[in-house]
Amino acid sequence: MTTRRSMLGAALATTGAGLFTSAALAPLVLAAAREDDPATAPVAAAPRVTPFSVPLPVPPVLAPASTKGGVDTYRMTLRPARVEILPGVRTEVLTYNGSFPGPTIRARSGRPVVVHHTNALDVPASVHLHGASVPQTSDGDPMDTFGPGRTRTYTYPNRQPHASLWYHDHAHHSEAEHVFRGLSGSYLLTDDLEQSLPLPSGAYDIPIALRDARFDDRGALVYVMDDVPGRTTLLANGRPQPYLKVAARKYRLRLLNSSNMRFFHLRLSDGAALTQIGSDGGLLPAPYTTDALWLSPGERVDLVVDFGRYPVGAQVVLENTVGPGTPEEVGQVMRFDVVRTAADPSSVPARLRTLPPLPAPTARRSVHLRMDEDGSAGARAYIDGKVYDPDRIDISVRHGSSEIWTVTNANKLAPHNFHLHLVQFRVLTRNGAPPEGPETGLKDTVRLLPGETVELQTTFDTYRGTYVYHCHMLDHSAMGMMAQLRIR
Ligand code: C2O
Ligand code: CU
Ligand code: CU
Repeated sequence: MTTRRSMLGAALATTGAGLFTSAALAPLVLAAAREDDPATAPVAAAPRVTPFSVPLPVPPVLAPASTKGGVDTYRMTLRPARVEILPGVRTEVLTYNGSFPGPTIRARSGRPVVVHHTNALDVPASVHLHGASVPQTSDGDPMDTFGPGRTRTYTYPNRQPHASLWYHDHAHHSEAEHVFRGLSGSYLLTDDLEQSLPLPSGAYDIPIALRDARFDDRGALVYVMDDVPGRTTLLANGRPQPYLKVAARKYRLRLLNSSNMRFFHLRLSDGAALTQIGSDGGLLPAPYTTDALWLSPGERVDLVVDFGRYPVGAQVVLENTVGPGTPEEVGQVMRFDVVRTAADPSSVPARLRTLPPLPAPTARRSVHLRMDEDGSAGARAYIDGKVYDPDRIDISVRHGSSEIWTVTNANKLAPHNFHLHLVQFRVLTRNGAPPEGPETGLKDTVRLLPGETVELQTTFDTYRGTYVYHCHMLDHSAMGMMAQLRIR
């Protein structure tokens, strides 16, 4: 009998070819291979969708309710909705304004945004703006929820440079399920520097949220905590393996991994070069050319892809080369169909931005991430040996200090990543070596494969208050892998 483990092993052998060693891949696959996992048991799976049979939607850009006084004010309602994800099937999801994923907010540095969120769900919610520098009262802390029928106002000062940010639910114990069921959206912050560059823009600048999901045979979403192996339907902007009709010219693609747990390792099917221009905290200092890139949950990558190198009629697939799941299930993310020619005045400058030099560090700390990985039910996940306790301050930081944190994944099998609220940081080293292109910009989330160590530096010179840091595999943070930092 073919066990799930051997199937996954085969998937690994097929998809891992040549790109990276099985040592890098195995953890992502093995962590999924617990055959006794209740998550894999009784639900009848949805029928497979034919890849590239639906178009990629682009979430609507939200119009402000008011722009008075130099402030853009928005209203959103958190509510259940029935939307078409799988072709011809209505699926109940949780949404901002009925949109799956949520509508995009476009903001400009120096111009504040206020969002009034009304909770029309039957559970408490908390809206976090991931990657943003915001006062504690607008951070969307896990414990700072607003209940059904309430409206909560979040104020975003936007006193930070351009960045591809995103908003998502963060209500303690429910954030993983809420995000899985649809509570996430893009918040694209721009500034004069970014606008001065000749990068692809307007209709040629497209946010694409990648994630996985699990459906039953009636098309309902199935959420089970830590269900790594069950979530094998890939969605891009809320549709399964869509196609996008493109012109033969350059596009800026802003990829976000909004999965709870899935890591992507992405490439183009013809092996063509990808030009990465940005990461979590905006543009890289210089473009980075690669044939494949990682995207762990919560991370963002801005790419420029030049479809001008293809003839009209060509099709190129964005592929994923890591499990869990078979290549048939999770090997193809979406397809670009080159359907017309177009003028292309855009270009990618050799220098994109200059980051300020790092100040001399004033403190050093280490942070250990680890979870129970024996496959037992009730497994927990820890930071420095402790599960999240909202009444405990784990790290106390002096306002203004610039700190180096050495963050280690102490697991042998489970991948993690690491996200800090409030700040962007710089990666100083990954496993002792200087960071490569994708990590030379500003980051708020870094991947940590089993055994990996990353040194990062950040400066706490904006807001004082209490903020969380956590693994952004949201099922892990819900299992306890989250802690608190107080800046005084
Ligand atoms: Cu996307 Cu606590 O973060
Ligand atoms: Cu965050
Ligand atoms: Cu984790």
